Amino acid sequence: MFIDTHCHLSGEDYDDIDKIIEEDKNAMVDKIVVSGCSKESIEEVLVLKDKYDIVYATLGYHPEYASIITEDDLNYLKKILDNEKIVGIGEIGLDYHYGKENIDKQKWLFESQLKIAEELNLPVIIHSRDATLDTINILKKYRVKGIIHCFSGSLETANIYIKMGFLLGIGGVLTFKNSKLKEVVKEIPMESIVLETDSPYLTPVPFRGKQNSSKYLKYIAEYISDIKDIDIDEVSKITSRNACNLFDFK
Ligand code: NI
Repeated sequence: MFIDTHCHLSGEDYDDIDKIIEEDKNAMVDKIVVSGCSKESIEEVLVLKDKYDIVYATLGYHPEYASIITEDDLNYLKKILDNEKIVGIGEIGLDYHYGKENIDKQKWLFESQLKIAEELNLPVIIHSRDATLDTINILKKYRVKGIIHCFSGSLETANIYIKMGFLLGIGGVLTFKNSKLKEVVKEIPMESIVLETDSPYLTPVPFRGKQNSSKYLKYIAEYISDIKDIDIDEVSKITSRNACNLFDFK
């Protein structure tokens, strides 16, 4: 049994979502946590979580939309979060990859959503790209738990997040040739790791180049099992337990 703690599932990317869900189930995927992180995808995910038993949702506005999200949008988000299949807020965070011109707006959006998470006691899925220091400093101001999604930083950064109580989302990047993440994963405790695909992006080897989906989780788990020299069942068991504890899955 595997749990995909972070992926996207939009009609824009997949022609046949029924088929994708069926394939996921056949690949021993027990639950998938789908992130709606734009105005449009939030509406799609609200429908998907009701349609499919294995689909759970995290909703929140991604930093790339910082310039268009308003106070009204945040009020709307807060209103729809109260649902047993919505298990967190995200992905939210900071992204300086394409520049910092809207840095104040990004920080405002990030902190506004952290306040909601704190108030509603919901886990957060953190997107941080080229913004490690600001992300850490902002997270320190709030009493929140969650996942550093698609973690690919240094061991030093990993240890800071772990000490703050965060889990690290490990996905396809681990399987890429020359990925420095292997060294990091070797050193961090299994209790701090959850699996994610971030599909349709970041497809693991040996399927790199194809469209990703949760059915490939086992290839990420296999890499972890090799790196840490433990059985793949152990990887599945511990990472699923970590996810269940965070999201309060029964
Ligand atoms: Ni994502």
